[in-house]
Amino acid sequence: MPKNDTFLRACRREPVDYTPVWIMRQAGRYMKEYRAIRKKVDFLTMCKTPELVTEATLLPVEILGVDAAILFSDILIPVEAMGLEVRFTEKRGPVFSNPVRSESGLEGLSILNLPESVERMPFIKESIRLILEALDNRLPLIGFSGAPFTLATYMIEGETSKNFTWIKRIMYDNPAFLHKLLDKITTTIINYLEMQINAGVHAVQLFDTWAGSLDPVDYQEFALPYTERVIKGTKKTGCPIILFANGVSSILEFMGNSGADVAGLDWRIDIGDARKRVGNMVALQGNLDPCVLYARPPVIKKYAKNILDRYGSGPGHIFNLGHGILPDTPVEHAKALIEIVHEESGKR
Ligand code: CP3
Repeated sequence: MPKNDTFLRACRREPVDYTPVWIMRQAGRYMKEYRAIRKKVDFLTMCKTPELVTEATLLPVEILGVDAAILFSDILIPVEAMGLEVRFTEKRGPVFSNPVRSESGLEGLSILNLPESVERMPFIKESIRLILEALDNRLPLIGFSGAPFTLATYMIEGETSKNFTWIKRIMYDNPAFLHKLLDKITTTIINYLEMQINAGVHAVQLFDTWAGSLDPVDYQEFALPYTERVIKGTKKTGCPIILFANGVSSILEFMGNSGADVAGLDWRIDIGDARKRVGNMVALQGNLDPCVLYARPPVIKKYAKNILDRYGSGPGHIFNLGHGILPDTPVEHAKALIEIVHEESGKR
């Protein structure tokens, strides 16, 4: 067990001395140290070089003083291992050269079992080993995966999408095709997470970033059952599972009932209301608007305090942003947030 186990205790809704805090995308372009690494190598090479992954993962631990480290990688890494070629471009973000829109494309995708997950992504296991060594039991390490629907969105759209034109067309016109794809992804992700847990991560987060783009009926057919299968398949390890979605308001009860230990909230919902709705089922993570970190520290303090107040007393809160930190955030503001959360929550 890491010396600072505040984050893990909060995941299990056990009492803590202060509210633990980490930041989604905490190692990123807003840090000059990160930009210095990226000057030398492209993003994918960085993700596949365990020494650089370790260096990036440790940056927010050393610079910000967060309560958990998160493996530096990307949700699209296992998608590449399933057989899709991905490039990360400066302007458009991730781009797939052959999006999956045909039966032959679907047939061509591999389902990764546990040994294949290790063999096709050897850098993941090695990175986790090096990070744990560097952390030296100071803090827990979070592993992660994209949730099935979110990964299917990228695989079908071929890039970050505004309207989800392709996946929704397929969802309405050929639901069997989407179900087959989701099934392949789900099996792969269960094995991918098990590989990370076997390598020693202390908790895992599932990013269901795009699930909030679905109407609730479609969410229950195309996102929830697959996410639940991943959670069930991962649960046997006893490792805490955080389920994050963007746009949780209409699906929060489903998230609370999904078997996850923690529901990760975006910033559009009042965390006090969220707690009333699901707080006896799961711990809650979140949920400061990432844009608040553009503001001066006294303003950051006001907003952070409001979230702590709205959550109220008792365990089960992990402080985080409602989505990933933005690339033009001043690093001192991120640092101030961590201090503010520790100080303000420690007084309670
Ligand atoms: O939280 C962490 O610090 C761990 C690392 C992490 C990254 N991406 C690093 C990254 C994690 C957990 C992710 C998850 C991820 N990746 C998601 C889900 C969470 C979310 O933000 O909704 C999604 C949708 C992706 C896909 C992705 N990767 C996009 C759309 C982009 C381009 C846009 C952008 O922000 O640059 C990436 C690239 C990416 N992933 C970067 C980082 C640090 C930037 C790469 C660079 O240019 O250096």
